[in-house]
Amino acid sequence: MEIKPVKAFDRRIICKPDKSVTHRAVMFNAAFGGRAEVRNPLISADCLSTIDCMRRLGAQIEIGRSVRILKGGIINSSASLEAGNSGTTMRLLCGLLAPAEGSFTVTGDESLSQRPMNRVIAPLAAMGAKISGKDGRAPIKITGASLRGIDYDMPVSSAQVKSAILLAGLKASGKTTVREKAASRDHTEIMLAAMGAKIAVDGKNVTVEGGNKLHAVDVDVCGDISSAAYPLSFAAGLEGGKATVENVGINPTRTGILEVLIAMGADVKVENVRGAAEQTADISVRGKVSRPVTVGGELIPRLIDELPTIAVLTALCEGESVIKDAGELKVKETDRIETTVNALRALGVEAEATEDGMRIFGRGYIPGGGTVDSCGDHRIAMSMSIAMALSERGGTLVGGEACAVSWPDFFTGIFGGGNV
Ligand code: S3P
Repeated sequence: MEIKPVKAFDRRIICKPDKSVTHRAVMFNAAFGGRAEVRNPLISADCLSTIDCMRRLGAQIEIGRSVRILKGGIINSSASLEAGNSGTTMRLLCGLLAPAEGSFTVTGDESLSQRPMNRVIAPLAAMGAKISGKDGRAPIKITGASLRGIDYDMPVSSAQVKSAILLAGLKASGKTTVREKAASRDHTEIMLAAMGAKIAVDGKNVTVEGGNKLHAVDVDVCGDISSAAYPLSFAAGLEGGKATVENVGINPTRTGILEVLIAMGADVKVENVRGAAEQTADISVRGKVSRPVTVGGELIPRLIDELPTIAVLTALCEGESVIKDAGELKVKETDRIETTVNALRALGVEAEATEDGMRIFGRGYIPGGGTVDSCGDHRIAMSMSIAMALSERGGTLVGGEACAVSWPDFFTGIFGGGNV
């Protein structure tokens, strides 16, 4: 796919629905609830994996403009589940199925089969789960067991791991507490509370009581700030660039990207804030960024999926930018420290990998002209197509179809189809 440089950008886009919220709305309603409607769902490869797994467990789910759960419950006592490329599907299922009656196998695609699963296996096993992987990776085998609550200090900040433990804790004896060093996204806590779970949040610690009786809830899925980040960053990278993305979820555990855009010198406006538990807003950004940044610490979980895009923007700011405390990037759909640095270099940007992030030596422009392989990673495909469109000479993208994981019509959605 050839991507040409774009010299002007002024667009108003309705935000793609949130992937994390869609996964949870479908999975929790299908597991615990009866009838429920998930309105404005994200229909992408990852979310279809969750729907498929819940159907294989016995739920009846209809996909139309909304996703309707017609009948919930974990009905089948044995099932082979395919999580595809989706870490959220696999890890949350581990917590959901550990206390369920039956025997289950969860597999993933080539990328997911290489990602670490001990981070969920170890705490669940400590709760009494019968769960095993193959050298700490998928395929995962689970035989339902009685669980006991746990008080768990999380070695890494991860919403997927936190969610798996909380889901298991719902059905365990006693209380389960998860303690994080830096807060990860809290969509699970918010949704479980709405479904009637006994769940309490105290700073970075979350406690759930066992023996919960949950009820179904209809969910209006907010827009995904991780998707909004592409048009907003594109506008931020262009002199005179403007973008407004409507209906973006602004859960504070997700809004780190806005703070970084402001620190880099973009003009950011958050307007029409609405909603309750998961608020949304219309976000406008005007370019161009100019100041290098250091991104690290507690900010990292709040923008973990936006780091490849932030790395692209730093190339447009003269001086050295640093991304640190982001070792988690190594265990995403690809090793995103390596894939991001390689892609930037292919486009003529000076960048180097570090132990826990990268350093980018920005020159104020991206030369472009090279070829970038997404390596099957949707975030690399999308962030690097932005880099090419912002570059002097454009570039060639291999593996653009990876966008289907979270934004199937990305290229027409963002560029209006004109420049690809
Ligand atoms: C997700 C959590 C994040 C994020 C992923 C989706 C979720 O992973 O990178 O894209 O829906 O819980 P970790 O919390 O494991 O870092």
